Amino acid sequence: MTNQESTEGTTGTEGTVLVTGATGTVGRQVVAELLRRGHSVRALTRDPAKADFPAGVEVAQGDLTDPESLVSALEGVTGLHLITFGGPYFAPLETGSQILELARKAGVRRITVLHGGGPSPLEDAVRAGEDLAWTVVMPVEFMSNALEWADGIRGGDAVREPFTGRLSAMVHEGDIGAVAAVALTEDGHGGREYVITGPEVLTLKDKTDAIAAARGREIRLVELTEEQAVEQWRAAGQPDEVIGFLLEAYGNTPLVGRTVVDTVEKVTGRPARTFAEWAAEHAVAFRA
Ligand SMILES: NC(=O)c1ccc[n+]([C@@H]2O[C@H](COP(=O)([O-])OP(=O)(O)OC[C@H]3O[C@@H](n4cnc5c(N)ncnc54)[C@H](OP(=O)(O)O)[C@@H]3O)[C@@H](O)[C@H]2O)c1
Repeated sequence: MTNQESTEGTTGTEGTVLVTGATGTVGRQVVAELLRRGHSVRALTRDPAKADFPAGVEVAQGDLTDPESLVSALEGVTGLHLITFGGPYFAPLETGSQILELARKAGVRRITVLHGGGPSPLEDAVRAGEDLAWTVVMPVEFMSNALEWADGIRGGDAVREPFTGRLSAMVHEGDIGAVAAVALTEDGHGGREYVITGPEVLTLKDKTDAIAAARGREIRLVELTEEQAVEQWRAAGQPDEVIGFLLEAYGNTPLVGRTVVDTVEKVTGRPARTFAEWAAEHAVAFRA
């Protein structure tokens, strides 16, 4: 038995789960899934006035770059969902050890970390926590990235992208939330890293066809050269490091990003949602 597993056996009364990044794409799904499962949820944001959480969620103010600001948010918390960044363009958090120290003091026993794809001192600190039941959640491309196409589709019935032959096992963000919610509240997930994918490998054409079917109108897929894509991303205000990341991720997608795994079904007991389901849920965003 690992240290993580032995910790899980002695959880006692379940307390509140604190979700960081709770106003974000994944965090809001973690919040929703915890609520759906009947758990007590507290959502962290730097600006409660701007946040719009569902009824039943307790809101806490705090900034992950300033660990002392988290003390009251951590009161009574036994489960903690963490992001690895704390500023513009996903600047890695350097405060991981302090956050973990405060979490331990508060009585946190289970932690999930949303893996950011790059090196993370916070993730390293969590992985080193042998007294905690930690789970690293490693999703591939989010289905919600397709919302970036909404303007082009609404305005011109077109998607303009480079590397149109690229493949993706993209995952519904609700399924990321569901896996995290289970790992935060049930035994058996400590000391694990979970790659999370959708149920199929898709081409760009598969994706635009699914959105076209959902909105009830054709979409043209226009192939851009690398140079045209860089120009488009620059015009959209993307900084050079993000552009470099996109060129690598799209031009040379690693095997893990285009291979289906069954984590969602294994952990949640439900099959992973398809992109067609995602497109149907978001059809209105793509209609003029
Ligand atoms: N997009 C993809 O396809 C993909 C795939 C795999 C992994 N990822 C990873 O997923 C992560 C992004 O997750 P997301 O899309 O859910 O995020 P997001 O929608 O961009 O939301 C960012 C969240 O971070 C919070 N935040 C930022 N700085 C903070 C700070 N200093 N203190 C407290 N909270 C702070 C924000 O909270 P407030 O503004 O409310 O304070 C907000 O809730 C990245 O690590 C990325 O690498 C993305």
